[in-house]
Amino acid sequence: MSDAHYPHLLPVAQALADAPAELRVRRVRADRWMGYARAEAALSALEDLLTFPKRLRMPNLLLVGPSNNGKTMIVEKFRREHLPGDPHAGNGAIAIPVLKVQMPPAPDERRFFSAVLEALGAPDRSNDRLAAKQDMAMRMLRATDVRMLVIDEVHNILSGSRDQQRRFLNLLRWLGNELQIPLVAVGTAEALRAIQSDDQLANRFTPFNLPPWRMGPEYLRLLNTLEAMLPLRERSGLEEPAMAQKLLTSSEGILGEIVALVTSAAVAALANGRERVDIDMLDDIDFKPPTDRRRAAG
Ligand SMILES: Nc1ncnc2c1ncn2[C@@H]1O[C@H](COP(=O)(O)OP(=O)(O)OP(=O)(O)O)[C@@H](O)[C@H]1O
Ligand SMILES: [Mg+2]
Repeated sequence: MSDAHYPHLLPVAQALADAPAELRVRRVRADRWMGYARAEAALSALEDLLTFPKRLRMPNLLLVGPSNNGKTMIVEKFRREHLPGDPHAGNGAIAIPVLKVQMPPAPDERRFFSAVLEALGAPDRSNDRLAAKQDMAMRMLRATDVRMLVIDEVHNILSGSRDQQRRFLNLLRWLGNELQIPLVAVGTAEALRAIQSDDQLANRFTPFNLPPWRMGPEYLRLLNTLEAMLPLRERSGLEEPAMAQKLLTSSEGILGEIVALVTSAAVAALANGRERVDIDMLDDIDFKPPTDRRRAAG
């Protein structure tokens, strides 16, 4: 049996294409990393930060874009490329190059340090007061030689009072100075607004935008990559004009929506014994554009 039957597929998908439909459905539904130019540029910006020499004033990055547009996927991919390694020289602790935490639902310093400790794998002593938690977190961040702190969902800062917000932004500034490591904040345009409300932080965080997708060669390349990863035996031609335009309109240019739409159509195809996605299927899968769903929800 030769893989050459499926020239429209990447090798991983070629190897799966002859598998039974049920198995392929499971693979289609699983998360997979898809490279695209803007994501690769973000990854290399992160790489630059990670190798930046320690100095008093470290540069920071703010990965900003609409919800569901691939921000977390990028920082997760980066973290996976820099997994904890050998015990750190001297103290026996495992080195953790990239630590990723989620901003708690509100800018609460105590919960923030709990999140840091949890990410470090430290036992949770939830009754500790802020000072104790902060001390422990700072000690462990140093012991594990964390070289980059990624804070996802940073727009949650805005759900606090003005005073809480200000205190939290001060804390971020202090953290960067104290540890002399780059901070990477991830969030929506609201996050940008929060950070820019503090002049001193504003000029330390370089925004890196992940805008919604628009029609153009990059977008068509993305569709091509997506198609090449789905183990369907026939070519669907997602990047052909009518299909590409339909996907763009239905998804409103949001990457997560594009992926969801195409994978649902691929699953529907397989369930019906078909080997390609066509434009009518996109109509049949009862997909509501993101704006409609928001309207219905709220
Ligand atoms: N590089 C990628 N490769 C494959 N799929 C992706 C990629 N980026 C995003 N996706 C798809 O889009 C979905 C949303 O991505 P992600 O969770 O990273 O969005 P986000 O920008 O962090 O959203 P939010 O602001 O709501 O947290 C993913 O679950 C995945 O299906
Ligand atoms: Mg996210």
